[in-house]
Amino acid sequence: MPCQVDWKRVVLVYVLQIYSYTAAVVVWVQLDVPRYVEYRSTVTLICNHSVSENVLHKIEFIRNEYKIFQYIKDRTPPTQMHKVPGAELQPTSAMNVIKLKDVGFEASGVYSCDVSMATPIYTVGSDSVNMEVIVPQSEDPRITFKKPYYVVGEILEANCTSSPAHPAPHITWFINGKEVDVFLVRTFPIKTRENQLMSTVAQLSIEVSALHAGENGRLEISCNSTIPTYPMQNGQYADFKSETKSIKIISVPLTPSTASSCHRENVVLLTISGIIATNGITNYLQSIVVKLLGLNLIVS
Ligand SMILES: *[C@@H]1O[C@H](CO)[C@@H](O)[C@H](O)[C@H]1NC(C)=O
Ligand SMILES: *[C@@H]1O[C@H](CO)[C@@H](O)[C@H](O)[C@H]1NC(C)=O
Ligand SMILES: *[C@@H]1O[C@H](CO)[C@@H](O)[C@H](O)[C@H]1NC(C)=O
Repeated sequence: MPCQVDWKRVVLVYVLQIYSYTAAVVVWVQLDVPRYVEYRSTVTLICNHSVSENVLHKIEFIRNEYKIFQYIKDRTPPTQMHKVPGAELQPTSAMNVIKLKDVGFEASGVYSCDVSMATPIYTVGSDSVNMEVIVPQSEDPRITFKKPYYVVGEILEANCTSSPAHPAPHITWFINGKEVDVFLVRTFPIKTRENQLMSTVAQLSIEVSALHAGENGRLEISCNSTIPTYPMQNGQYADFKSETKSIKIISVPLTPSTASSCHRENVVLLTISGIIATNGITNYLQSIVVKLLGLNLIVS
């Protein structure tokens, strides 16, 4: 059977392709809504688009895949509204703008909008925006530690405690301006009396070394407490608080005699245990070696 080309179909597909290409290029739809909004504030959602008024057919706002607001130009009434959990939806005189009043945490969600043209029939959707309702921190975090000064070699333990917020803020510790390795920090969120608010405690434990003391013999520790964890595209945080404290470092050298003899004994012990481990000496020999070591230590 000879191969027959269905020309009508080819032309149709071709036309559709050109058509969808040009439509996609010409029409754009963008939802303008902040990523983070404050609890109990009013949020304005703008469905910004390039469809001209004479071909505009429909505008829809969508939350978590459910339609919350619909405008159809040729219908009476033209608008239709649905419930938004944790907020009061309010239309405006512009059909591409709606407001969410008095937002609670339940109003957080994924928002988008669709714009449809009448001729040709065509719908373009915006990107989704994950809007989150937050309660910012009311104060800078608090840094607490047990002593006003530390001696080189001691373990410095300090807490950075954020003020209550939602969600629990993320804390980053810095020593002399340098970010501290995460394995030196233990973080735990703590519930507060206030409804759904959380503080974060980040506990830093580090052995104080001579390197930590700056020229003035002080160690500077600071913590940044942020929502969200990482800065947004514009480099900013939705909520940023910070605190810095300075701790005196005393580099008292151990008295030379005790320091060196302690050191020698430790080396001897390490060497002996090294021999035992590598050569697998019998228990009998081990006990002799330990006895010898004992003598050695007593003698020296
Ligand atoms: C809508 O988009 C236009 C074109 O990009 C822009 O100039 C305008 O600022 C936008 N308006 C809003 C409210 O986002
Ligand atoms: C840090 O917080 C923990 C847990 O709340 C507490 O047990 C510890 O004593 C605190 N340490 C300091 C130095 O405040
Ligand atoms: C931490 O806070 C200080 C200001 O207090 C700022 O200069 C620094 O850039 C912040 N660091 C990060 C990683 O956000």
